[in-house]
Amino acid sequence: LASIEFDLSKVSEGQQVVITWQGKPVFVRYRTAKEVQEAAATPLSDLKDPQSDADRVKAGHQQYLVVVGSCTHLGCIPTFGAGDYGGWFCPCHGSHYDTSGRIRKGPAPTNLVVPTYEYVSDTRVKIG
Ligand code: FES
Repeated sequence: LASIEFDLSKVSEGQQVVITWQGKPVFVRYRTAKEVQEAAATPLSDLKDPQSDADRVKAGHQQYLVVVGSCTHLGCIPTFGAGDYGGWFCPCHGSHYDTSGRIRKGPAPTNLVVPTYEYVSDTRVKIG
């Protein structure tokens, strides 16, 4: 399928749900207020691949982060909620991502990819 719809009410606060889109895992994460705040407060100068959190989520829906679940180093699947920055940790070679899915430490060159998606209602997104 070129695109899929996902019901955000299936994700609990502080958790993620992994869905499959075009053969790839996609992480849909419902971030806590603290995680959103940390992601938004990070200075761009601290980032290897500078991108503001606001540019990685949709306005008015900052609590939901949608990223392709593939480490940008060599494609392993990062582990949720692990690593030094509370986002994800890739066990293959030790890349640490923050709660915006941005690379903070380790060999991965770029942030976790935000796929094309849109809100089709307040609680549903269409990915792809
Ligand atoms: Fe993730 Fe190498 S594949 S750190």
